[in-house]
Amino acid sequence: MSQTSSADHFARPFNGPGTGPPVPSSVPGGSEAESSQGDPGGRGSPAIHALGLHKRYGKTVAVASLSMSVGRGEVFGFLGPNGAGKTTVVKMLLGLVRPSGGEAMVLGAPIGDRETRRRIGYLPELFRFQPWLNAAEVLALHCRLLELPKRSWDQAVADSLRVSGLTDRSGDKVGGFSKGMQQRLGLGVALLGDPELVVLDEPTSALDPVGRHDMRQIIRGLRTRGKTVFLNTHLLAEAEQVCDRVAVLDKGVAIATGTLAELLGQHGRVRVKLGTVDGSCTKILSKFGAWQRDGDWIILERIENDSIPDLVAAIIGGGGRVEAVIPEHQSLEDRFLELLDER
Ligand SMILES: Nc1ncnc2c1ncn2[C@@H]1O[C@H](COP(=O)(O)OP(=O)(O)OP(=O)(O)O)[C@@H](O)[C@H]1O
Ligand SMILES: [Mg+2]
Repeated sequence: MSQTSSADHFARPFNGPGTGPPVPSSVPGGSEAESSQGDPGGRGSPAIHALGLHKRYGKTVAVASLSMSVGRGEVFGFLGPNGAGKTTVVKMLLGLVRPSGGEAMVLGAPIGDRETRRRIGYLPELFRFQPWLNAAEVLALHCRLLELPKRSWDQAVADSLRVSGLTDRSGDKVGGFSKGMQQRLGLGVALLGDPELVVLDEPTSALDPVGRHDMRQIIRGLRTRGKTVFLNTHLLAEAEQVCDRVAVLDKGVAIATGTLAELLGQHGRVRVKLGTVDGSCTKILSKFGAWQRDGDWIILERIENDSIPDLVAAIIGGGGRVEAVIPEHQSLEDRFLELLDER
C-alpha cells in the first residue's frame, strides 16, 4: 500500500490552481464552459456527499454501504479502529480506488473528476518522497505537477515550507529527513495551491507533541479560511480538539455520526464538593439521580447538563454549602469504546 500511495501521490496532483497571486479558477483545458453555468465549481453542494458507497476486496468487505455528507467549511473527523475502512473511503473519494458499489460527489463533481482533484489537497497515510531531492525541490516538483503558473512557484514553496515548519531545512535532502519531517513535508505538499478540500489521513502519526500542536493550528487556520478538512484519525483526543463533526466507522459500517455533543450525549458526570452532607442534603442529591461519595466529593453519574444550576440552587436552598462543582464530560475515547462494544 505504501508504494501505491506514494506512486499515486506523485502521479496525480491533488491540489488547486494557485497560491499567492490570483490565478484562474479553471485551468487550461478545464471546464470553463461548465463552470459558467450557475454554480461554478459546484460550490452550493456539500464538500462530500456519499450514497451507499461500498468496497469489497475478495471476501473482505472494506466499506459497507456508507452514506454521509460533509458540509463546506467543516472539519470532519473519520474515526475507527485499525482496518475499519477509513483509508479505503478516502481513496474512493479521491478516485484512487474504484468503489464496488454506490456513488459519491466531491466538491460538486463525481468522484475521480480530474479537474476537481486539482482543488483537493491530500496527505496520504503512507508516503515516500524522492530521497535525492531537497524539501524545496520536492515542493517545486509538485508545483509543476499542479501546473501552477511558474511565477508563483517561489512564493508557493516558501509558504508551504513556512506552514509546515521546514523553512530551516529547505535545502536538505529529504532522504535524511526524520519520519516526522517527512510528514510535515507531506502536509506542505497537500497545502500547495490553496485547496478547497484538504484530506488528511492520519496526519500526526509520526509527529511529536509540538508537531501535533502545529497540525491542530493548521487545521483550525484552514477552517477559519472556509476550507473543508476531512481528517482520518484514531487519535480521539485529536478529533475532540479540532472536529466539528465526526463519524465512527467500524468494519466498514458507520456506527455513529454527529457533532461531539450529539455523540457524547447531553448527560454528563458532575463532581460536587459540599461543606457537609447531612440527611436533607442526601435527599436533595437523590432527586437528581444516583450519586456516590469519592473522598470529599460527591459524584452524580448521569445528570442533564442543564440541571446543574438547579442542583446547586437546591443544595443551597436546603441550607447546604457548595464549595466546588466540576462537570465532567464522557471522553470521546470512552464513548468510542462503548459504541464498539454495543455492536
Ligand atoms: N488493497 C487491498 N487489498 C485487499 N484488502 C484491502 C486493501 N486495502 C484495504 N484492504 C482491507 O480493507 C479493510 C479496511 O482497510 P483500511 O486500510 O481502509 O482501514 P483503516 O481504517 O484505514 O485502518 P488503519 O487505521 O489501520 O489505517 C481491511 O480489512 C484491509 O485489510
Ligand atoms: Mg488507514
